[in-house]
Amino acid sequence: MTDMIVAIDGPAGSGKSSVSKATAARLGFDYLDTGAAYRALAWFALASSRDTADSQQVISLLVDFDYEIGTNPGEYYVRVGEDDVTEAIREPRVTAVVSDIARVPEVRAFVTALFRSIIRSSPAAGIIVEGRDITTVVAPDAPVRILLTASPEARMARRAAEVTTQTAEDVAAQLHKRDSADSRVVDFMTAAPGVTTLDSTDLDFEGTVRAVVDVINGGTPPNKEKNHG
Ligand code: CDP
Ligand code: CDP
Repeated sequence: MTDMIVAIDGPAGSGKSSVSKATAARLGFDYLDTGAAYRALAWFALASSRDTADSQQVISLLVDFDYEIGTNPGEYYVRVGEDDVTEAIREPRVTAVVSDIARVPEVRAFVTALFRSIIRSSPAAGIIVEGRDITTVVAPDAPVRILLTASPEARMARRAAEVTTQTAEDVAAQLHKRDSADSRVVDFMTAAPGVTTLDSTDLDFEGTVRAVVDVINGGTPPNKEKNHG
């Protein structure tokens, strides 16, 4: 079990997943993508023809939700039962309904317990855990807690550059809708007391990884003061 937990929260497109994975690889740490669990449950609900807007239908799936995620940053995968859903959980049809899943308190409690168990059993020297409520709910006692932000324009541009199956306008509209739905459930736009804000708007990918490594090593990011609480 490792005590070196690095908690990273932030909105969609701030760079959480890619930066956390690269940083973990660099430091020899494990990497836990918590959004994947919500996405996998959304995928499972669609595959089981459930109405994702009906929380009772979503809750009833939890007992059969056989979920597995790879935490080695070099061997990332997501499985539900026998299905490898690593790619499928990123499809727009899943992204469109994932906020429905994430607003159900029973789902949040279920996956939070799962995340804590994965963190506890990590054999690595440290683990970087990223999502929306890691600094506040999943691992509020983590020795390093970061809120990774970026301007809405930068976030939309990054996401639009990745997605080839939707227009930039559709990506922006979906991102905006998801951020507003998600922020009604957890606050990932403002840093909780003691959480270090890192604004990646003017940093490239490598610069962001370096800034995260600096924070882990005890420094403050170049562009923000530590938010003492
Ligand atoms: O990578 P991206 O920002 O697009 O999203 P994600 O991290 O894959 O998370 C997908 C969805 O899961 C979010 O839109 C939230 O609804 C939910 N989520 C959450 O509620 N709490 C977390 N700790 C992580 C994700
Ligand atoms: O997980 P989250 O939604 O916060 O963001 P992501 O999926 O890790 O990053 C979205 C895209 O932005 C990826 O293609 C990253 O490589 C890119 N990115 C960037 O261009 N510049 C940064 N400073 C950080 C991420």
